[in-house]
Amino acid sequence: MVKRITVEELKKRMDSKQGVVILDVRPSNAYQEWRIQGDKVRSLNIQNSKLKEFGVESFSDIPKQQEVVTVCARGISAQEAAEWLEEKGYQASYLDGGMSAWSEFYEPVTVIKNEKYAIYQIMRLAKGCLSYVITSGQQAIIVDAGRNVERYEDFAKQLGVKITDVIDTHLHADHISGGNELAKRTGAKYWISPEETVGATFNFVPLKDGQTLTLGEAKIKVFGLHTPGHTIGSMSLLVDDKYLLSGDTLFISGLGRSDLKGHVQEMAHKMFETVTTKIAAIPDDVIVLPGHYSDFQEINTAGYVGESMSTVRKNNPMLHMTNETEFVKIAVGNVGVTPPNHETIIAINRGQLHPSKEEQAELEVGPNRCAVKH
Ligand SMILES: [Fe+2]
Repeated sequence: MVKRITVEELKKRMDSKQGVVILDVRPSNAYQEWRIQGDKVRSLNIQNSKLKEFGVESFSDIPKQQEVVTVCARGISAQEAAEWLEEKGYQASYLDGGMSAWSEFYEPVTVIKNEKYAIYQIMRLAKGCLSYVITSGQQAIIVDAGRNVERYEDFAKQLGVKITDVIDTHLHADHISGGNELAKRTGAKYWISPEETVGATFNFVPLKDGQTLTLGEAKIKVFGLHTPGHTIGSMSLLVDDKYLLSGDTLFISGLGRSDLKGHVQEMAHKMFETVTTKIAAIPDDVIVLPGHYSDFQEINTAGYVGESMSTVRKNNPMLHMTNETEFVKIAVGNVGVTPPNHETIIAINRGQLHPSKEEQAELEVGPNRCAVKH
């Protein structure tokens, strides 16, 4: 029997000194759209049909001296490919559950842990989504939870903390939020800006500019800062005056797009105002912790996505613009490809649609989901 590895085992290999060789056997369009990446990942894309037709040994890129992990959409054709490799004397294993399992892999990384509080960044590597667990004493606040809510419950249990508050920085369009469900399951308060919830069917506590939550006996301050521009009600959270959870407003190397809920011009103007007032007032030594990253190279040497405000300022000319018309022109022109299924995802996050877990997984896979076959 060929060796099967879990996503956790794959991640360990990705973090190891020698790294990992991945042979992705999905169609090339699916591979181009979405694949496993990392600075120590050597990635090959050869479909099963080709491996079968020409034989694995005719592909000289596939190393014989190092383990090769095969990957497909759900693990079935990858198992077949790994068997062919093993038959020919290669060291092969396959990723159990394939890209589906990878999509649901969340990894907690410590940003800060001192005697008063801790911030953990929960990295969802497949989607570049970042959520946060802030703890102090026995209390925890979860920010921008993904839909796999049991990950946060398990992590809180492991840390010995109780989830008392769940916050969404905004109504997400690119992934299904777990915020509301997590709050319901844990009895926590669910906070979101009232400007984000028009048409929503769930209960929430309105998160407004200047709202301060305190955490633990140390009364760690989590300060809500209204930073519209990505969406009208986007909030950022300043923790202990030192860490800015910037949602999709400010990234390590960019700003949030303004087009996802219509009103692109209006939102771009709002973003200009946010950048020149609220963001401009953030001190240089504050660490920016965004809601997304776009490239694994944004992961810093400590293993999380975050940089000081001074570095973020240095790298982003948009943060220095003074001409509003120019800024809006760039912001409107820079929007790129719309996230797949975003209207459906918004409707789910508003509580207007209730698809099954399987349907939710499919919706998050990507534009090529029809092509993601075994
Ligand atoms: Fe967003």
